[in-house]
Amino acid sequence: MEYIKPKKFYYVLHPRPTAVIVSKCPNMKYNIMSASWVTPVSEEPPTIAIAIDREAYTNQCLEFHREATINIPTMEQIDVVYSVGSVSGREVDKISKYGIVLENSNNISVPRWRDAACWYETKIIGFHDIGEVRLYIFEVIDYYCKKDVANEWGWDIYKTSPALHGVGRTFYYVGKYARAKSST
Ligand SMILES: Cc1cc2nc3c(=O)[nH]c(=O)nc-3n(C[C@H](O)[C@H](O)[C@H](O)COP(=O)(O)O)c2cc1C
Repeated sequence: MEYIKPKKFYYVLHPRPTAVIVSKCPNMKYNIMSASWVTPVSEEPPTIAIAIDREAYTNQCLEFHREATINIPTMEQIDVVYSVGSVSGREVDKISKYGIVLENSNNISVPRWRDAACWYETKIIGFHDIGEVRLYIFEVIDYYCKKDVANEWGWDIYKTSPALHGVGRTFYYVGKYARAKSST
C-alpha cells in the first residue's frame, strides 16, 4: 500500500458547507466574514460551533456584541463569499464595498444577509480558545430558509447547491446522492 500525505491535515475534511457570519462591531457597524470550519454541536439546546481566528475582526465584534446571524449561501454567491473571506473589516467596510444587503432578523438585533438561502439567528453561549482560534458556541434562536431552495429535509439539491468550500478559491456543488441499505 502506498500513501500520500495531503499538504494540510484538514484538506480531506473539505469540501464542507460555508457559512457567512454577520456581527455587530464596536463602531456600531456590521461586519461580515466567511467561515467553513462550522459544525452542529447539540440538538438540545440547538448549537453550532465555528472556529474563528482570534486575529479576525469578527472575533472583536463578537466580543463586543454576543449575537450574530449565520447566513448560508449557495453556489450563486461564491464570488462574494470569497471576497468577504479575503479582506478584513478592520481595513474596509465590506458591507458597503461588496454591496451586501442586510435585512432585519426576526428575533435578534443583528441583521441577516438577504441573498443567503438559509439563516440562523444566534446568541453566543460559550467559547473555547485553542491555538490561534476561538471556537464559538452559538445557540440557535431561530432558523429558516427560502422556500424555493429547501424543504423539510433541508436542501432541495435539484434546485440549488450549498457552497461547499474546498481549498482557497475552490468551491464544490453537491453531486449525486445515494442511499445506504437499511441496517439489519
Ligand atoms: C470560504 C472561506 C472560508 C473561511 N473559513 C474560515 C473559518 O472557518 N474560520 C476563520 O477564522 N476564517 C475563515 N476564513 C477566512 C476569513 O473569512 C478571513 O480571515 C476574513 O478576512 C476575516 O474577516 P474579518 O477580519 O472582517 O473578521 C474563510 C475564508 C473563506 C473565503
